[in-house]
Amino acid sequence: MRILYINIKELLQVREENTYKISGKEMSKLPTIKNAFLLIEDDLIKDFGPMETLSIDAVDKTIDVTGRIILPSWCDSHTHLVYAGNREQEFVDRINGLTYEEIANKGGGILNSAKTLQETSEEELYEQSCKRLETVMKMGTGAIEIKSGYGLTAEAELKMLKVIELLKQNYNIAIKSTFLGAHAVPSEYKNNKQAYIDKIINEILPKVAKANLAEYIDVFCEEGYFSVADMEAILESSKEYHLIPKVHVNQFNAIGGIKASVKLNALSVDHLEVMKEEDIEVLKNTETMPVGLPLCSYFLSIPYAPARKMIDSGLPFALATDYNPGSSPSGNMNLVVATACIKMRITPEEAINAATINGAYAMGLSKTHGSITKGKKANFIITKEIPSYGYLPYDFGNTNIETVVLNGITI
Ligand code: NIG
Ligand code: FE
Repeated sequence: MRILYINIKELLQVREENTYKISGKEMSKLPTIKNAFLLIEDDLIKDFGPMETLSIDAVDKTIDVTGRIILPSWCDSHTHLVYAGNREQEFVDRINGLTYEEIANKGGGILNSAKTLQETSEEELYEQSCKRLETVMKMGTGAIEIKSGYGLTAEAELKMLKVIELLKQNYNIAIKSTFLGAHAVPSEYKNNKQAYIDKIINEILPKVAKANLAEYIDVFCEEGYFSVADMEAILESSKEYHLIPKVHVNQFNAIGGIKASVKLNALSVDHLEVMKEEDIEVLKNTETMPVGLPLCSYFLSIPYAPARKMIDSGLPFALATDYNPGSSPSGNMNLVVATACIKMRITPEEAINAATINGAYAMGLSKTHGSITKGKKANFIITKEIPSYGYLPYDFGNTNIETVVLNGITI
């Protein structure tokens, strides 16, 4: 099936093959074609260019999108979208003065979600997750990473990963799965964290790898959770299963997690709300993508990752939602892009690069996703009639999406 889109007001993020990530000053450039056409064949991008060069005849369908902008669908490289229930009560507790850390120390937080998830059947967990996935797809997300980490037992971690696997099978969207057994120390191991780390290394991780249920491995490297040494031990042990690290670091404290992750060839380091000079330094000239999660900062009222500083230092930068019940109960990438512009002081061009091609890189998908490139997946957003692409973050809180096309199919 060949579908031709004509009279596109502006086609954004048009890239040559072999562009896998954008760094530093380059991030302020967003290559576009005004008054463009786009040809897709089945699930792939076949051709595009200015309308005046259009000379294609045999197509099955022509769609006139006059006044609309087309851009690649969002690539959300960090989510915890598979979870059970919600943490509305903790939200109110925080409004009433408790901090995220105080709530966690009382047994709330991640442990609260783990308890709920352990008591939820796989079927019910799947149902709840489907609703969230469908919602984010309609909001323009076309590739997504999903983590385990609310199980914290072999059984419940595998249940989460199986649900992710089912979502992969049943939905027309690229999904990458990450094993996050080291998300929090279960209360039974409160006084013996090492025993839980041993259990991850000797029991849960081998089971996950044997069932082939994860491509990436994550650790929450933070005071009160897992130390740099704990993270190193877990990531070292995952090497034999070829799981690539993508880690939670520097959310509340800078404890050296970035340096260790870079040494272990992490694909991405995520959160980065608290950064020391040396953390930025150590990321230079590496293959590790720094990922900011502005909705977490917004929801918890904590600092924003210093995106401006990182980009000005020549680093690449990606944006993701962190969709989860505790620190970011939203999977809205449109709001992520707007919040990054407003609060991290990055430009619409930088934010769109961060939320498309660099997001794809941060989950190993930039050969197929994240830009309008011949041969890449036909994944894109058709906007409503809007004045310019800068209007997308300006009109924050609204999505301005008319249609989402994923793998050539309008959803
Ligand atoms: O990325 N920081 C660790 N994990 C999640 C939040 C977990 C939760 O509060 O449930 C995050 O923010
Ligand atoms: Fe997270």
